[in-house]
Amino acid sequence: SWVMKDFIQKEIVRIRHLVGDHDQVIGAVSGGVDSTVAAKLMKEAIGDRFHAILVDNGVMRLNECEQVKETLDKHLGINLTVIDGAELFLSRLKGVTEPEKKRKIIGGTFIDLFQEKVRSMEEEAKDKPDAGPIVWLLQGTSVSFRGPSATIKTHHNVGGLPDTLKLKLIEPLREMFKDEVRKFGEELGIHRDLVMRHPFPGPGIAIRILGEVTPERVAIARAADNIFISEIKAAGVYDEMSQAYVAISQDRAVGVQGDARVYGYIAILRAVKTLDFMSAEPYEFDFALLKKISTRIVNEVDGIARVTYDITSKPPGTIEME
Ligand code: XMP
Repeated sequence: SWVMKDFIQKEIVRIRHLVGDHDQVIGAVSGGVDSTVAAKLMKEAIGDRFHAILVDNGVMRLNECEQVKETLDKHLGINLTVIDGAELFLSRLKGVTEPEKKRKIIGGTFIDLFQEKVRSMEEEAKDKPDAGPIVWLLQGTSVSFRGPSATIKTHHNVGGLPDTLKLKLIEPLREMFKDEVRKFGEELGIHRDLVMRHPFPGPGIAIRILGEVTPERVAIARAADNIFISEIKAAGVYDEMSQAYVAISQDRAVGVQGDARVYGYIAILRAVKTLDFMSAEPYEFDFALLKKISTRIVNEVDGIARVTYDITSKPPGTIEME
């Protein structure tokens, strides 16, 4: 719409004035709606003087890091650096079972790697007299969702970086609601699939793997989640739900494969509808679809013996399992 086009143009002009002709801007991206829209806006405003950083924390979904890289780098032309932190994150998560501890480790490790990157970029900028200093940090968070309590925001989201970085903040989406960010994104030429993506928590599938996060359990959770989401998309019902994922249990259950008894984790499917993420209802699946998904997961994912569907509302449940 022309209203949105006009708004985008004004934002671009405002950012150019703010940043000037030399300063560089850095910002973390996750592949989610907010950080992608904010990054694309910066790209439009100042080109390659905006540097997007994607940290692979080892607990993103199946092939997600590669897909985000492809979209931001190739399709949207954003100046992107990927930091491969998977091994470091997983080594720090070893033996940890407590959910809040998982969150702290993942948030802390993210900050460590991001800070290290800012420092190395500052060093490099010194050797390039034509490159301006890194002065700004892009914070891509929005007001989140409309509803009685419009903020679930989020100390833990990508962009929640400490002020020890001594960077000035740019927050272009600060006063926008999620549905406005989505329209904004479409107007900027971001693909509908990305713009309509369900939110994904910063600690990723680590809080969907009950108990310890090991590389083996990450692979199992990823494979099951991938089947679930693919089937939801194939059935055309992805946009009917607000969030969907597969968690895996800590203990194992028995199943049979051929003549043998096998032990595997229990896959816990969760899909909810919500307006504000403060309260949520379980999605009412077509039962045949649910059974098809169950059969595929048990047959195709080694390490899973049973499939259950979580029908807990929020409250008293939460959307995530941990
Ligand atoms: P709960 O589980 O509290 O989740 O009902 C509400 C919304 O918040 C997301 N969530 C998180 N997002 N870091 C995040 O970035 C977190 O630690 C975290 N925990 C929950 C959840 O996915 C849902 O959208």
